[in-house]
Amino acid sequence: MNLIMKMLAAPATVLALWAVSAQAATNDDIAKRLEPVGQVCVTGQECKGMEVAASAGGGDAKTPDSVIAKHCNACHGTGLLNSPKIGDAAAWGERAKKEGGLDGLLAKAISGINAMPPKGTCADCSDADLKGAIEKMSGLK
Ligand code: HEC
Repeated sequence: MNLIMKMLAAPATVLALWAVSAQAATNDDIAKRLEPVGQVCVTGQECKGMEVAASAGGGDAKTPDSVIAKHCNACHGTGLLNSPKIGDAAAWGERAKKEGGLDGLLAKAISGINAMPPKGTCADCSDADLKGAIEKMSGLK
C-alpha cells in the first residue's frame, strides 16, 4: 500500500469503528466494546497493569538527580537555613576546604551538621548516593 492509501485508510477505520459503536444499544454495551483499548488510568487511583511500566522507569535506583530532587533541593535549592546553594561553587569550595575535601563534606552530610539533618533526610541513601548528590550540587570531584 502506498502512503496516500495508508493516510486515507486510517480515518476510514476510525469512522467505521465509530459507526459500529454508535449502534450499541446502551452505554454499557459501548463501554464493553471499548474495554480492551479504552482502559484509562486516572492519577491518584490504582491502575492495574501499570505498576510494571512505572517501576521500569527507574524503580528504586537512585541517581544524583533523583536524590537531589527528592531530598536535598528542599533546602539547597534556595539556600534555605543558610545551606550552600546548588551550583554555588564558591560556597561549596569553601566548605570543602574546611572539611578536608569531598569526603569531609560527605561525612558531615551523613552525620548532619547544625540545621542540616542526617543524610539530608534521605534515610535510605547509601554513602555513594549522598556523595553523588554532593558532587552534583557542588561541582566538586
Ligand atoms: C532541611 C534542610 C536541608 C536538607 C533537606 C538538606 N540539607 Fe544539606 N545543609 C543544610 C544546611 C542548613 C547546611 C549548612 C549547615 C551549617 O553549616 O550550619 C547544609 C550543609 C550541607 C553540606 C555541607 C556540610 C559541611 O560540612 O559544610 C553538605 C555536604 C550537604 N548539606 C549535603 C546535603 C545532601 C547531599 C542533601 C540531600 C541528600 C542535603 N544536604 C539535604 C540543610 C539541608
